Amino acid sequence: MAEVVEQMDAVLSSGVAELSAARSPADLEAWRVKFLGTKGLVKEMMNLLGQVPKEQKRAAGQRGNAVKDALTQAFAERQAGLTSQVSADRDYEDVTEPGKALKMGGRHILMQVVDELTELFGRMGFSTASGPEVEDEFHNFIALNIPANHPARDPLDNFYLATGEQKADSPGQLRLLRTQTSTVQIRVMETQAPPIRVVIPGRVYRPDTHDDTHLSMFHQLEALVVDKNVTMVDLKSTVYQFVRAYFGEETRVRFRPSFFPFTEPSAEVDVWFEDKQKWIELGGCGMVHPNVFKQCKIDPEVYSGWAFGFGIERIAMRKYGINNIRLFVENDLRFLSQF
Ligand code: DAH
Repeated sequence: MAEVVEQMDAVLSSGVAELSAARSPADLEAWRVKFLGTKGLVKEMMNLLGQVPKEQKRAAGQRGNAVKDALTQAFAERQAGLTSQVSADRDYEDVTEPGKALKMGGRHILMQVVDELTELFGRMGFSTASGPEVEDEFHNFIALNIPANHPARDPLDNFYLATGEQKADSPGQLRLLRTQTSTVQIRVMETQAPPIRVVIPGRVYRPDTHDDTHLSMFHQLEALVVDKNVTMVDLKSTVYQFVRAYFGEETRVRFRPSFFPFTEPSAEVDVWFEDKQKWIELGGCGMVHPNVFKQCKIDPEVYSGWAFGFGIERIAMRKYGINNIRLFVENDLRFLSQF
């Protein structure tokens, strides 16, 4: 029995010694075959148990198993150590190694369009402004010359907020998600003196039923110019310039007389799309109403101005051939990764 155990210990110590001498995956494999293989030394060692007297078999067997476990574990550790060391030591790039594909995020197509638009208007001398999406009645309606009984204020057409401080009998206190970026015209005129030349991209909210062209949240690009001697000609030429620069030199534009409480005269702008053989409405525009100037303490006898508010989703859809507005909010990577 003593002899058998001695032999077992010899297998362990030579195994450990030879393992630490292994320098490469090939050395390791040779070691594995020699010690742990089906005809290896560990197997041979276990066969020695046959020579051990019956009453000592149990103890010798336990010893044999301990040696086997120790070598198996040492092998696993050495293998892990050697692989990481080999790749860390290597001073060349293995160009055949499979690449790691990095999934890159990107700017949302709508935000890319916003960037394109603000950049384009930037080149025409416009700065960019923004304002809050939760607005008060003053900026969304009153200052924009939308009277108390106007249908645009209907609760069915607005997301009014039920806040603690809100009282139906205290006018001007109502809060809502803004329905138009025209609110920011007021905020700009309250804080800046003319001359003003600004574009305002932003989200607006309306309780519309969702379909291919409507969402209850969408984006508008508002523009406001205030200076001395500003006329409708400035408005029209700026819109022409913008449309041609963005959609192409040949693009046709038309102005249709319209009505908005905050502009006089007012118009709607359509762009002709050859592929669809159809006029697509961009939005409204007009000369800033004197009442709006008065609300902002700007003298309408001295200053005049124009404004427009265009739908950004519409612009993006026409520019990039997107046929359903819902695609902008569904976060489907098959759509988003195309841009
Ligand atoms: N605020 C209007 C809307 O959401 C669009 C609009 C019309 C904006 C005329 C303007 C404007 O600045 O002058 O329907």
